[in-house]
Amino acid sequence: MTAKIIDGKKIASDLLLDIKKEISDRENDGIRKPCLAVILIGDNPASEVYVRNKKIACEKVGIKSISIDLKNDVSENEVLTLVNKLNNDPEVDGILVQSPLPKQVNEDLVIDAISPLKDVDGFHPTNIGLLAIKKPRLRSCTPYGVIKMLKTLNINLAGMRATVVGASNNVGRPMALELLLENCTVTICNSKTVDLQTKVGQAELVVVAAGIKNIVMGEWIKQGAIVIDIGINRVDGKLVGDVEFSVAKEKASYITPVPGGVGPMTVATLMENTLLAQKLS
Ligand code: GUN
Repeated sequence: MTAKIIDGKKIASDLLLDIKKEISDRENDGIRKPCLAVILIGDNPASEVYVRNKKIACEKVGIKSISIDLKNDVSENEVLTLVNKLNNDPEVDGILVQSPLPKQVNEDLVIDAISPLKDVDGFHPTNIGLLAIKKPRLRSCTPYGVIKMLKTLNINLAGMRATVVGASNNVGRPMALELLLENCTVTICNSKTVDLQTKVGQAELVVVAAGIKNIVMGEWIKQGAIVIDIGINRVDGKLVGDVEFSVAKEKASYITPVPGGVGPMTVATLMENTLLAQKLS
């Protein structure tokens, strides 16, 4: 079997059109554009690219974006004070602090400081907790983007055995919660998992978010499984995922490419979350 390559760019672009239409309809009803505040600290080249893509998407759909660029040596207190100011600004609907943060700024403290109603990344413990108790509100963008992608393809997730490789706070864990919400039977693997190959090989849906090139070998994939690769690794100047794509695509029914798979979905769901945050305010 040769897999269908999932065109995340196209699915995300259609989603952006729907969001643009909704924002425009709301404007016709006298509601202002949603507004996203984006805080970028330091000069990490990858973060600069991610933030630029988010701002381009804002422009596409009619979301106002405010950029706040801070020096790498900014103090934790300054960041927390800024977040607090944005929390209290009625003109700001969403707040995003691009990670990674410099070592003097504690990421958990910053996430905790963002109002859960403006947490468009869906990283705040309140929003993760709501997802865990089956009452999702602002959902982590990448896992939610994966679910939206699978639903667009009319894939029925209920009852599927799903293996998630990676257990990070921002991706692996909320991904597992999203799949549980869809009534998958979920296995979560981490760096200590014994016999990763068996856990991957038993799954009809494999989602990989480890940030390690080829952590999942193509041979391991069950015939006809769906493979979602969230990894982004730079190898000789090229971007590759976490899955051995060339072999996996000969066994899977569907597979996401890197780039052009999950990445664009993350940005599109961020736009959806910003619109939702405005509705919640
Ligand atoms: N760094 C890499 N991806 C992300 C993301 O989705 N949100 C934030 N805030 N930082 C990131």
